[in-house]
Amino acid sequence: MFNKKPVVKEEKKLSLDGKKKKAPPELLRGFRDVLPEEQAKWDAVRDQARGMADAYSFGRIELPVLERADLWTRTLGKHTDVVEKEMYTFIDPSETQVALRPEGTASIARAYINHGMWNLPQPVKLWYDLPMFRHDRPQAGRYRQHQQIGFEVLGVQDPVVDAQLILIATRLFQDLGIKVSVQLNSIGTPESRQAYLTQLTAYFRTHRAKLSEEDKHRLQKNPLRLLDSKDPQTIELLAAAPQILDWLDEDSKNHFMKVIEYLDEVQVPYVLNPHLVRGLDYYTHTVFEIWQEGDAGDRAQNSLCGGGRYDRLVEVMGGERPAPACGFAFGIERAVRAMTESGSAPELRNRPKIFFAQLGDAARRVGLRVFEEFRKAHVLIAEASGKNALKSQLEAANKLGVAYALILGQKEVLDGTILVRDMESGAQETVDILKIVPMMEKKLSGGSVEAES
Ligand code: HAM
Repeated sequence: MFNKKPVVKEEKKLSLDGKKKKAPPELLRGFRDVLPEEQAKWDAVRDQARGMADAYSFGRIELPVLERADLWTRTLGKHTDVVEKEMYTFIDPSETQVALRPEGTASIARAYINHGMWNLPQPVKLWYDLPMFRHDRPQAGRYRQHQQIGFEVLGVQDPVVDAQLILIATRLFQDLGIKVSVQLNSIGTPESRQAYLTQLTAYFRTHRAKLSEEDKHRLQKNPLRLLDSKDPQTIELLAAAPQILDWLDEDSKNHFMKVIEYLDEVQVPYVLNPHLVRGLDYYTHTVFEIWQEGDAGDRAQNSLCGGGRYDRLVEVMGGERPAPACGFAFGIERAVRAMTESGSAPELRNRPKIFFAQLGDAARRVGLRVFEEFRKAHVLIAEASGKNALKSQLEAANKLGVAYALILGQKEVLDGTILVRDMESGAQETVDILKIVPMMEKKLSGGSVEAES
């Protein structure tokens, strides 16, 4: 996809005097900035994930953005969308074919192998919050760079792990005020799947003429993906197609039954979805997605979260010992969008309660010191350093919704004092500047304070 001759856009804009005017810098398609006003929701999602990770003893892992491309081309499947069309692959200056990480699970398996994690007590539970890159067609909720939070459990085959991960993911979204439905299926082992694929392929071959070009390609290269085709004609054909659950071997069936029993036990509702296969080849047994309630339509676009078991991945990648595993990941952008649609509005974390206004150069200098004292005491304080007039500084304080404004003018600097203004009542008092930090701490914690001048 890369290392072709780059296309450089001509700057065409001319200004009035006929000279070339610089075009404003352009963001790449499918990439976005996350601005400060969006951060409250991003923080809420991250706080929720961190809380879950702590409660269930997951250790955080950071992974490099750039890895050898074959980490994914060998494990996700040659005929998956990610490998066929979406990877940012290029040759680096040391002639190695590298790729920007399109997903986290293969990197997790690599890290498990590289760090000999089979020597640790099993299971190894890891979580991450990392950017992913996919050169996909951008649209609402689909970006070429997106941020995934993922939870992965490696080293045990027990179906209780699958159920616990589904429970964690479900509660995480529910606690963010998002109504969700869990879509659940099993795709068994690669061996048991083979018999099913033979049936499925035979069925669709008899209807080949009705398939779109894309689905004909799938029939040939990756017939399982016909199950989550979006083509109306294929969806119609699927109603009478063989179902994967009927073709699972005993072990796969037992595993799936156990997952269902455990979910019933913890009262997590789910929808058995025989057409859910997920788009990546490393899955075995349980696969699941979490959809925002009411989003039965375009699955790929609307899925909030996706995951499943990948019992063979570590082995396929050359791990010394097999490590059955299960995990899930979700995009923060989609979680934030769902929160917005559900009207769920978290409080801004770290919202300052005090505003600092200063008048004149001497006040600005003393102000630097005062600000530092508050920071050391972990009291958040806002300012509008570009504004000089008191009126505009107090307007800024009002906008931020702080409880108090501290005002430092020429006179106060000379007297060693500072004015404390109650923003609600407008009442002002003069306070010894050396005592301002403990006094404000007391005021903010609701304690009564004697004014001292
Ligand atoms: P995935 O379904 O490809 O699975 O992606 C997981 C989640 O990432 C999706 O449910 C969605 O929320 C988000 N996502 C994916 N692509 C985009 C995009 N282009 N723009 C915005 N958000 C996106 C995986 O990547 C697996 N590694 C998940 C997993 C972990 N399986 C086992 N462990």
